[in-house]
Amino acid sequence: MEQSTWEALPPEHREGLRRAVEAREGAYVPYSHFAVGAAVRTGSGAYVQGFNIENAAYPLSMCAERVALYRAYAEGERDFRALYVVADAPRPVPPCGACRQVMAELCPPTMPVILANLRGEVLLTTVEELLPFFFAPDDLLRQGERGALLGSGEGNGRGPSSEGGEVQFPETGAGSRGGGREGEA
Ligand code: THU
Repeated sequence: MEQSTWEALPPEHREGLRRAVEAREGAYVPYSHFAVGAAVRTGSGAYVQGFNIENAAYPLSMCAERVALYRAYAEGERDFRALYVVADAPRPVPPCGACRQVMAELCPPTMPVILANLRGEVLLTTVEELLPFFFAPDDLLRQGERGALLGSGEGNGRGPSSEGGEVQFPETGAGSRGGGREGEA
């Protein structure tokens, strides 16, 4: 994690933060009054914007980061290059755990995540730094099935076994990694 300032950033990051600030204006935050803006930059150089959208049933509220990522994905974007997040807060706002999990699913591990506040303070981090050892697509596979689900351009194309070094899991009684799957065909 690296501290920076808006002025010190390269032009594409300054533009990304500008888009996030712009997006933030649309936030629907009647309950928290805490507006967050996000923008995801894609391989084509497009910026897809998002903001948080709250709900009277509070837990249904959706963060700016996920709105931006899901919107971009729904629009057909698959090549995510950077995510920008802005709020009016004492420090650049750390994305919530749910958003980190979604970033880990859809974005490359080394993808920059740029967090900023309206005072101009910036933190530069990455998807993998925000969420190491995450629950990944390959974790859904049974023994011997690794790599079968992904690897053809879906998701970020990686699972826990593709980042160098096989992870050793303790044996369960049935030689399976997880509980609860024994007995399935
Ligand atoms: N929120 C975001 O949109 N992104 C973050 O990174 C942190 C929190 C939203 C969720 C909720 O609408 C409001 O901020 C207060 O938690």
